Amino acid sequence: MEDMLSIHDLSVSEVEDILSFAAELKAMQKSGVKHEILKGKSLGMIFEKSSTRTRVSFEVGMYQLGGQALFLSSRDLQLGRGEPIKDTARVLSGYLDGIMIRTFGHERAEELAKYASIPVINALTDLLHPCQVLTDLLTIREYKGKNLKNLKIAYVGDGNNMTHSFLYGAAKTGMTLSVATPKEYAPKNFVVKNAMEDAKETGAKIEILNDPVKAVEFADIVVTDTWASMGQEAEHDERKKIFAPYQVNKDLLSHADKRAIVMHCLPAYRGEEITDEVFEANASVIFEEAENRLHTQKAIMALTMSDF
Ligand code: CP
Ligand code: NVA
Repeated sequence: MEDMLSIHDLSVSEVEDILSFAAELKAMQKSGVKHEILKGKSLGMIFEKSSTRTRVSFEVGMYQLGGQALFLSSRDLQLGRGEPIKDTARVLSGYLDGIMIRTFGHERAEELAKYASIPVINALTDLLHPCQVLTDLLTIREYKGKNLKNLKIAYVGDGNNMTHSFLYGAAKTGMTLSVATPKEYAPKNFVVKNAMEDAKETGAKIEILNDPVKAVEFADIVVTDTWASMGQEAEHDERKKIFAPYQVNKDLLSHADKRAIVMHCLPAYRGEEITDEVFEANASVIFEEAENRLHTQKAIMALTMSDF
């Protein structure tokens, strides 16, 4: 695997490799076995947006694999003062073994990957959040079994970077995915089209709806995310009104399978996209999901950056 910018770019077997290697690395970590597959390697972590989970899990993950991680905030980098991304890419390629980037426009991550001669990992763009969704697939396997093909996942809320990566993740693993968003906040057409195309290989079923109840019907997993992503803070109040019918609450969940789990990539805004009651009832799943970022990203770093 060269870069990891989008689940759409991965083959079905590469997705499977990431998930099984992540499970293996998690088991090793839990039993105290070290796996220093990236000994002596350095990862640069470019952040143009805030982060709690991504920063800490990549940094600790790199340490656990025997390497080191450098936190590179755009507030400090010359990138923040206008140095072109294509120059930054070529400079950093001379020092590092891999770059992780969290940024706004997805084309910035693509440009970095184009000009860097080392692997680039997407740690969230406005368009996609592949590390999170691969983590969510690992978590779903832990709670619902390895055969994702028999499972229905419902994504309710904003058609954002998480939705787009779920579309690709479901398509590559053969899951059934129902997305429900307000009309004006549907996932991007080209992403839905790509996912439908990918779905032909695995038999995944994808539907894009506006009715949250219909999306959630018989779902094994219900997922939501913030209604105002990073960069959309000014739209928060308007979005809060528009998205109110899409809140994941007890009533909505009564339409899902009785054993349904609720997932959230975090940070969560209780009383908005999810009630405190539903959040706390699913806290063990949600915090396992958060922990799994560590194991999944270790697998991604190892598969892109190791010499094997
Ligand atoms: N879920 C997630 O990516 O969290 P952070 O924004 O804290 O990294
Ligand atoms: N959709 C959210 C995800 C945060 C991890 C955002 O982009 O802000």
